[in-house]
Amino acid sequence: MLLLDAGNLLFKRPSVAAGPSQEHLTAEAIIRIYQDIGYDAVGIGPLDMAGGIDLLQSSAADNFPWISANIIDAAGNPLFHQWISKEVQGVEVVITALTAPPKKLDQAIKIGHWESLLPELLQQISKKKNDPFIILLSSLTGEENRLIAEQYPAINLLLGADRHQQNASPQVVNHTLVTQTGKQGKYQGLLEINFGTERRWGQNREKQLADLQNRLGSLNWQLRRLEKKSASGKISANQNSTMERLRKNKDEMNAKIISLQETIGKEQSQTMLSDRYQYRFIGLKKNMANDIPTEELLKTLKQQIRQLHKKPSKHNETTDAQTLFPQGMDLVGFRVCESCHAPQTEFWQSTQHAEAYTTLARKEKNLDLECLLCHVTQNLFSSSFQNMPTKGLLSLPRELQSVGCETCHGAGKKHSVNPEGFKMVRLPGKNICLTCHTSEHDDNFNYEIQLTPVSCPAG
Ligand code: HEC
Ligand code: HEC
Ligand code: HEC
Ligand code: HEC
Repeated sequence: MLLLDAGNLLFKRPSVAAGPSQEHLTAEAIIRIYQDIGYDAVGIGPLDMAGGIDLLQSSAADNFPWISANIIDAAGNPLFHQWISKEVQGVEVVITALTAPPKKLDQAIKIGHWESLLPELLQQISKKKNDPFIILLSSLTGEENRLIAEQYPAINLLLGADRHQQNASPQVVNHTLVTQTGKQGKYQGLLEINFGTERRWGQNREKQLADLQNRLGSLNWQLRRLEKKSASGKISANQNSTMERLRKNKDEMNAKIISLQETIGKEQSQTMLSDRYQYRFIGLKKNMANDIPTEELLKTLKQQIRQLHKKPSKHNETTDAQTLFPQGMDLVGFRVCESCHAPQTEFWQSTQHAEAYTTLARKEKNLDLECLLCHVTQNLFSSSFQNMPTKGLLSLPRELQSVGCETCHGAGKKHSVNPEGFKMVRLPGKNICLTCHTSEHDDNFNYEIQLTPVSCPAG
């Protein structure tokens, strides 16, 4: 099986502002999902270029199978693979792609015109490959695709990504089978090809036969209804003549079916010469099972988007931990963690640790440095942490008052920006607890037992 996409998958608009945005995050997630699913080739459409060429080039460097024969640099050199080949059932299948010009274009990039480019490209392919089956992924308009099919019989299959077209059933135009699916993954097109011994499309007799049999079926149904009426004598003159006509049609159709079956029988006894196909469009439905790795990637994407849209809080001026901790402890406070770890935050808020500062305040001890030391969030993992109260503790932002997330999981500044790149401590060790649960303040602290009531849930 070959998994192919003719392009226009990353963005919905022709141009998207640079810098972090929901659209960029989504495009990156689509690239990862396609890569996980294992696409064999993906054409570049103008909508894929909306976020700049860098995204395409960096993913291509990461082995994403982008293809475009006509995205070229100022000197005329192609920027992506112009074509690739795969062997399928003993046939050399070549996949190439043409990109329609986008609305906005980087000055250093040009889009070559297919009229000047295709002849040479096809010649190059035929020199290197013996009797190839050539697939063209095209984001050009339906009209241009038709022209290409009429002029270049060497192209066996043309898969379109014209944004103004929906599912288009396969049609043989001259020697090329032309088709496309509806946009944005709402449909998958399944095309089953039986390779013949010659690279040309045969008449699809099985399909013709199936069509005829279908029509015969509905004709029979109408006929039976009328015949019932006729038997009970409740038939009008008009209906009577319809019945006569249907009977004649039925005889003709039966004759056609018999002759077609004979032809098929004859052809099968000879060797099958031509390529044949069957197709199906598969609509995306809610009740289809989700792909687990894709679901995970989407979950992460949603978190990233939520984080991106998070409004700066009222305490934003004070959340820059650098200004509050002269030692540079890289703390960010629990509100930042909450944006990606909602269930754990909800759980933590139900524990006594979230109340530690309030407890002091109630005793009017929240300005007592001696007490604050164990009732707020500090970076206990930092080598520069000293078990000594500092004046900084008096002016902590609200997000760092109480025994917060970073007490147990370490400072989260880097992780919050790049969760995969900077891991947090998952399980805080006994020593961390003992910084505060000293014998003086908690005379019978037992790590194994007291860990359970503070362990955040998974998910
Ligand atoms: C932008 C989203 C985001 C933010 C903000 C964020 N995290 Fe995470 N965190 C993640 C993701 C994603 C993972 C899973 C990473 C992985 O599997 O590589 C993770 C994993 C973790 C883990 C498990 C560590 C492990 O080994 O898998 C802990 C603990 C954690 N985060 C704590 C925190 C704390 C505490 C904060 C706040 C200081 C925080 N996170 C902020 C996204 C975030
Ligand atoms: C920064 C200091 C600090 C650290 C580190 C710390 N705790 Fe605590 N812990 C407290 C304070 C203070 C309270 C009491 C809060 C209150 O009641 O207001 C508390 C309360 C608790 C309680 C609730 C006790 C009760 O009787 O309700 C448990 C359980 C607990 N901590 C377990 C742990 C464990 C396990 C660790 C290590 C993984 C840990 N704590 C690390 C300061 C800390
Ligand atoms: C070395 C760390 C540490 C220091 C310093 C500290 N506490 Fe605590 N405090 C804890 C821990 C740990 C607990 C939870 C004990 C438990 O599990 O019962 C706690 C619990 C409490 C509680 C609630 C439970 C109770 O026993 O009443 C109050 C109130 C309290 N502390 C007040 C104070 C005051 C006031 C000061 C300053 C004079 C102070 N703490 C200094 C670690 C500390
Ligand atoms: C008193 C210590 C403590 C505090 C405070 C704390 N956690 Fe945890 N957290 C734990 C422990 C223990 C686990 C369980 C680790 C394990 O089982 O491997 C855990 C697990 C996690 C995990 C991993 C969940 C998973 O996928 O298995 C995340 C994420 C996390 N905590 C985030 C947070 C956030 C966010 C906060 C603050 C809102 C927070 N934690 C506060 C102790 C703490």
